[in-house]
Order: sequence, then structure tokens, then C-alpha cells
Amino acid sequence: TWTTGNVIEEQIAAIREQVGTKRAICGLSGGVDSAVAAALVQKAIGSQLTCVYVDHGLMRKGETEQVEKDFVAATGVQLKVVDAQQRFLDALAGVSDPEEKRKIIGREFIRVFEQAQAEIVAEAGEHGEEPVEFLVQGTLYPDVVESGGGTGTANIKSHHNVGGLPEDLEFKLIEPLRQLFKDEVRMVGKELGLPDEIVQRQPFPGPGLGIRIVGEVTKERLDLLREADAIAREELTAAGLDREIWQCPVVLLADVRSVGVQGDGRTYGHPIVLRPVSSEDAMTADWTRMPYEVLARISTRITNEVRDVNRVVLDVTSKPPGTIEWE
Ligand code: XMP
Repeated sequence: TWTTGNVIEEQIAAIREQVGTKRAICGLSGGVDSAVAAALVQKAIGSQLTCVYVDHGLMRKGETEQVEKDFVAATGVQLKVVDAQQRFLDALAGVSDPEEKRKIIGREFIRVFEQAQAEIVAEAGEHGEEPVEFLVQGTLYPDVVESGGGTGTANIKSHHNVGGLPEDLEFKLIEPLRQLFKDEVRMVGKELGLPDEIVQRQPFPGPGLGIRIVGEVTKERLDLLREADAIAREELTAAGLDREIWQCPVVLLADVRSVGVQGDGRTYGHPIVLRPVSSEDAMTADWTRMPYEVLARISTRITNEVRDVNRVVLDVTSKPPGTIEWE
């Protein structure tokens, strides 16, 4: 029978057996999946695990600080933060194709981990002699299916941690959540003692805002989208909609321009798309019928407060046919 206790026990035994006395690293994204995977592996192998948080500059406002504070406080895990913002911007320069972006982001993640591993071995105390042989990932069952790697035939998009991995990967993978759905992962996280702020977080994709800019990713566009996203999140939280809404991607249509009238005259800016969805497992979703007043507040604030944005549009497409993310 399926219980969170059984899942945890089985995984801990399997991980101990697989890792032995070697070391593992785990990429933390700030999301539920990697946090639960890390907590589980830490429970199994303790200080043989080091978590690495790659600040790729594609995070939302406040996210890096949240990982540095909340997750470490909740788990006591060893954390290494790598500032890789410029590296990701350089790698993404000139790229607009969604799959290409996903593959680049997946590849750069791994390259950063590979660099971090040498440093971790050098810095490590008691396990210093052992190489880092394993990479922990919070891959879920739907990630596997939708990247075409499972029993499903679909190949919808390359989730950064499945289809986006480079072929010459130096690490062996540990993926303790590979058979679970999101709600099950949340239960496992709760059982492991993670706080609600982590376990109940809405999903956010590993490639971050990089796949929420339709068009080329630049620093300027990221900053703009970060502002718009922070406003939308603030208003949704204030309206008490965080649990009802599964997630609400905020997307910048950087390649589209629209005419507006703001302040003293004509502007020629960009639209922002709001994509609030309701879902059980992200495999299917429906657009959330949310209150007009909240939409109005978000729209007014974004067009007033975010430079270069003169239009806010609402995505009213279910999944299928539209995926949750635009890319
Ligand atoms: P789609 O856009 O395929 O998204 O309907 C389904 C769910 O997965 C999230 N998502 C990702 N999560 N790495 C992740 O960790 C990814 O590359 C990725 N792409 C999409 C998306 O936010 C939604 O919750």
C-alpha cells in the first residue's frame, strides 16, 4: 500500500545503497520538488550531500533570498550558492526558440554543477577524499512523461531536468520522486518536516523566467518581467487566491508590440499575459475564473508601474490544447 512513510523508507534505503560512501550534490531551484528531493536525500546520507543553488538570473523577485534563508533554516543542509547570471545571459543571447532555450538552460545548469563539484570536494572536510558522483534531481512523473522519456508517447517539451540534460553527463542521477505526482510530493515533504511555505509553494519551472519571455532573453526584459510577476503574485496573495490557483505564469511578449496611451502620449510597448490555471497534477489544466476586480487591480498596477508595458491580457485557454507555460 502507498503511504508517504513507505515511500520515504524505501527511497532512503535505495539511496543509501546506491551512494555508499560517495558524495552527492543536489540542485535547488527554490521549488517544491527539488526541496523535497534534497530533504529526502539528506535524511538518507546526511553530510555526504551538498546542495547547490544556481542563481541563473531567471528567478523571480526574492526567490534567491528565500532559498538561502528558509530552506537552510528548515533542513540545516549544506548550501553552496553560485552566481551564474552572466553565464546564462551569455549562453541565451540571440536565442528565441523555446526548445533551444530549454536545452541551453539545462546544459548550463549541469556545467555549473560540474564546476561546483570540484570546489565542494576541495572545501569538504570529513568526506573530502570522496568524489561527487551523484546528482540529485526532483524529477516528477509528469516531467518524465511530458519529455517523452516515460511510457507515454508525448514529447511536448524538454523539461530542463529530463530532456534538457547533456549527453556527456558526468554524474549518475538520483531521482527519488520520479514515480510521484505533485500532491504526493507535497505529502512526502510535509512528512519530512518541511514548512508549508516550501511544501505548498506553487509550481515554478526550472528554466524560470527564461521560458516566460517570448523572444530573446535579455537582462532588461528579465527585470521588467520580474516586476510584473511580483505585482501579480502580490495581488493574488492579497486576494487569498494562492490555493485556488495552481499557478499563474506571467509572460512577456517581447517580440510583440502594441500601441498605448500613457501619461502624456503615445507609447509603443509590450503586452504582458496573465495565465492563471487550476489543476490537479499539471497534466491537464483549466483557466481559472478569477474575480474581475483582482484582474483589474493587477492590470492597473502593471501598466502603471512597469516601464514599457502598456497592455495586460488574460489567457483563457485550457490544457490541452494550450500548455501551462507558453514555451
Ligand atoms: P506545461 O507548460 O508543460 O507545464 O503545461 C506543466 C508544469 O510543469 C512546469 N514546467 C516545468 N517544471 N522544469 C520544471 O521543473 C521545466 O523545464 C518545466 N517546464 C514546465 C510548469 O510550470 C507546469 O507546472
